[in-house]
Amino acid sequence: MALVTSKEMFAKALNSDYAVGAFNVNNMEIIQGIVEAAQQENAPLILQVSAGARKYAKPAYLTKLVEAAILDTGVDICLHLDHGEDFDICKKCVDDGFTSVMIDGSKHPFEENIKITKEVVEYAHAHGVVVEAELGKLAGIEDAVNVSDRDATFTVPEEAAEFVQKTGVDSLAVAIGTSHGAYKFKGEPKLDFDRLIEIRKLIPETPLVLHGASTVLPEFVALCNQYGGDIPGAQGVPEEMIREAAKHGVCKVNIDTDLRLAMTAEVRKYLVEHPADFDPRKYLGPARDAIRDMVAHKMRDVLGSSNKR
Ligand code: G3H
Ligand code: 13P
Ligand code: ZN
Repeated sequence: MALVTSKEMFAKALNSDYAVGAFNVNNMEIIQGIVEAAQQENAPLILQVSAGARKYAKPAYLTKLVEAAILDTGVDICLHLDHGEDFDICKKCVDDGFTSVMIDGSKHPFEENIKITKEVVEYAHAHGVVVEAELGKLAGIEDAVNVSDRDATFTVPEEAAEFVQKTGVDSLAVAIGTSHGAYKFKGEPKLDFDRLIEIRKLIPETPLVLHGASTVLPEFVALCNQYGGDIPGAQGVPEEMIREAAKHGVCKVNIDTDLRLAMTAEVRKYLVEHPADFDPRKYLGPARDAIRDMVAHKMRDVLGSSNKR
């Protein structure tokens, strides 16, 4: 049992029809809920930490909590930096013991993205750490109505091939119509699967990553709204589309919003139903259980990663 890279996880997932879940973590209850699910489902696991999470919890706490989860459960975990914006934060995480980092140079012009990514790859690989990069901008399909709009926003397959060849990156996040948060589509959910298939054809050995892949589970949105929340019209990526993406080279599926919704729904429900309680364990316990059950459902019924450890 150890902190591991995603190399072996992706090698197994690449030519299969399942994907590994990568879940964002911000505190102890979230980590415990997710790791319990992975233990129960015997599923490979990536826990990812954003710059915001490091700022909120302080870096040492999250690293130590993940180490504690490994000790407690015996589950191997890949500890990944989510959306590292520059070389410095990637270096810090490599030095802190992360086994995987993402350099997100997607806001930069193509050549600049290559340059920054290459620098991170050199440093990380010298320390046994793997690197994810991103090409294209995450945006809903309605933001890119025609082909040239889409090429300006989504990942261009030929550029993906050149990017991977020039940077030596281990995995690539692609933009095919998903977006972060709880409002992913204005109308019918739609992803550009033709583009995904084309990218995969050109770089068949590169594990692909799907960001913004929460389903925005309606049951949790409904609970939030029922117990005082105000998140109307929230909509995510249907589970069927995640299953489809896993068949076309997507090895890593990023989920944060669904964790936030599950936790918030349970906390809201508990507090409304038990107005006299004020012991945080009373409402964080059920929130942790909800996260465990939601993540187990994803692994078993959506990602197909149960028993793939
Ligand atoms: O991709 C973004 C993740 O959901 C992390 O969000 O930067 O608010 O921690 P955050
Ligand atoms: P969601 O907002 O869909 O959960 O996406 C999370 C993500 O991509 C983290 O990098
Ligand atoms: Zn993301």
